[in-house]
Amino acid sequence: MFNKRTRIKDLLTQEPKGQEVTVMGWVRTFRNNQFIALNDGSTNNNLQVVVALGKLEDDSLKRITTSSSLKITGNVVPSLGKGQKVDLNATSIDILGDCDAEKYPLQPKKHSLEFLREIAHLRFRTNTFGSVFRIRHALAFAVHKFFNDKGFLYLHTPIITGSDAEGAGEMFRVTTLPIDKPPKNDDGTINFQKDFFGKPTNLTVSGQLEGELAATAFGEIYTFGPTFRAENSNTPRHLAEFWMIEPEMAFYDLEDNMNLAEEFIKYIIRHVMENNLEDLDFLAQRLTDEEKQMPQDKRSEIGLIEKLEFVLNNNFERITYTDAIEILRESNHNKKKKFQFPITGWGMDLQSEHERYLVEKHFKKPVILSNYPKEIKAFYMRQNDDGKTVAAMDILAPGIGEIVGGSQREERQAKLEQRMKEMHIPIEEMWWYLDTRRYGTVPHAGFGLGFERMVQFVTGMSNIRDVIAFPRTPGNAEF
Ligand code: 4AD
Ligand code: MG
Repeated sequence: MFNKRTRIKDLLTQEPKGQEVTVMGWVRTFRNNQFIALNDGSTNNNLQVVVALGKLEDDSLKRITTSSSLKITGNVVPSLGKGQKVDLNATSIDILGDCDAEKYPLQPKKHSLEFLREIAHLRFRTNTFGSVFRIRHALAFAVHKFFNDKGFLYLHTPIITGSDAEGAGEMFRVTTLPIDKPPKNDDGTINFQKDFFGKPTNLTVSGQLEGELAATAFGEIYTFGPTFRAENSNTPRHLAEFWMIEPEMAFYDLEDNMNLAEEFIKYIIRHVMENNLEDLDFLAQRLTDEEKQMPQDKRSEIGLIEKLEFVLNNNFERITYTDAIEILRESNHNKKKKFQFPITGWGMDLQSEHERYLVEKHFKKPVILSNYPKEIKAFYMRQNDDGKTVAAMDILAPGIGEIVGGSQREERQAKLEQRMKEMHIPIEEMWWYLDTRRYGTVPHAGFGLGFERMVQFVTGMSNIRDVIAFPRTPGNAEF
């Protein structure tokens, strides 16, 4: 058996009693032909391997370069160096893979995040991305644990669909028709009957509509999968391919929905605080160092860990859209005309600068905004009695802006159909969606959490491209 190895993370907590272990990993540094700092991705902390002088031939010593891969057997002994409890005294070293130091793009020095994005296939081997991706994993695990423990059913919704769940038209077409010469109808339009599915299809923007079908049978479900948006937004918070968690619950109203969302966000943050403190500490320090380069007023008022603790220990502020508009209108920021998009009044869509003003300057905590004007929200949201607003809720997080979008759904068939007509949603094609309202309709609600925005919030990474392995953004689909 080849892979009988001890993970470095586990090894570093063992009592050093001379026990024999085998480790495998990649060299971070090699000093004085004697000290190898070995990393295997289980932690940012390297294992110091001590190679006795004369133990290896010169030829072999030369091959121990940064990022070469090694299999090392040795004895665990108390460390002579500072900052670590154990060293490994090597008894045998196999070089599994060489790494040409001249050509290897990741030198043992500080690289910019922009540069690392260009070598995203290698950036996992840095401390920053090691921490980010271990935390991303932990968050994903916590998502499943939270819902599983609550009795929610994990539903896999289709990636290829014929519908536009959000009705926003930001979809990637899926087709096998030849793009240079598609078959045409008599009137010159493309004949999609000849396409693979016999109709136009696209990558899903949201699993919500299918989620609603299952929630009206199982009660409580959630999805967790990739979603795709062809919106041409080149911002630090938008991806063309991102992961979304969408719980959908029968017998929930808007308030139940907000309560669940708040409890959920706090739960997954707590999970990371309890299980990934080492990585959080590393990222907190990284952020502090990074912010030292910035002008005082751009720096965070509190550190990453304090921010997360603060979120855990305080209720999210809950206000209506109408109140938010008033706060923004009355703000000094507005009066001094500091918003790029001025506050024109009730009915306007909030820009991210407005959302961030509310959470970062005014309330200084996460905010749940509810009851938006129906004109700026999707067709499926439940219409309020005022005839003007819908039972929508968005959660806004400091440094991020919108992290959750959700609503109570319109369960009354007539009202839903009327809204679909007004918004030019194809009613006949959505017969299956409307069937849930025909056959035993129930009050129900749900929301979508943008997973990458959540990872950004927890890791403090300022660009969304740095919390997903291989970001897809306008003009970029490398790797
Ligand atoms: O607000 P959105 O568009 O809501 C929906 O898709 C609903 N169907 C959710 C539901 O009620 N089941 O998207 C939900 C969240 C946003 O709040 C944001 O966090 C994230 O998804 N999101 C994006 N994240 C990264 N890149 C993008 N282009 C995103 N668009 C939305
Ligand atoms: Mg939204």
